[in-house]
Amino acid sequence: MTQDGFWLFAYGSLMARPALPWTQRVEATLPGYQRRFWQGSHDHRGVPGAPGRVLTLVPTEDVENEGEERGEGACEGLLYYLPPAVAKGALARLDYREKNGYLRCTREVRDRFGIRRRALVYLATPHNPAWLGPAPRAELVAQLCTAQGPSGRNIDYLRALHRTLRQLRITDPHIEALMAAAGRHLNPAGALTTARPPKEEP
Ligand code: SIN
Repeated sequence: MTQDGFWLFAYGSLMARPALPWTQRVEATLPGYQRRFWQGSHDHRGVPGAPGRVLTLVPTEDVENEGEERGEGACEGLLYYLPPAVAKGALARLDYREKNGYLRCTREVRDRFGIRRRALVYLATPHNPAWLGPAPRAELVAQLCTAQGPSGRNIDYLRALHRTLRQLRITDPHIEALMAAAGRHLNPAGALTTARPPKEEP
């Protein structure tokens, strides 16, 4: 894998700030999964003792079992191609960046032209020490709005992703709902989208 080029499916900070020497980028869909802020962050958007929340992909049936809406039942994200010349270094950087509980997995995704590709995707599952899992909406939003770590404020992770999704004309109902709830939490009299622009950090 390290000698060959590879495709990477990105759905969170890797969409908003890939910081990778990719040579091709295309929108793509991973069926059967949805974004959820169920992974803890002690290294980027929080600190030990006061972790933030970052995204992972959760099987749609697990989302439904938590009583949450099914949504589209698929995750729309981005595919990046990392060619052989940079593959080894890119993989090492990715493994380091996603080290707090993510597993490097392979899944079949479909790009916007209908082409199926095997792609790497970094997934956090309940079997890692940083896992936080589901939480009541108000609790989750309060955590997103207060946590911060070496990479900046947790809320800016959400804002950066939301802005990227908007630019790509991808609508994720769950992310939209969290943005609206965060807006009400931070500024009951206004909207979050009128706040100052987010920093672009992971
Ligand atoms: C990803 O963006 O694909 C992985 C999760 C993250 O780093 O936010």
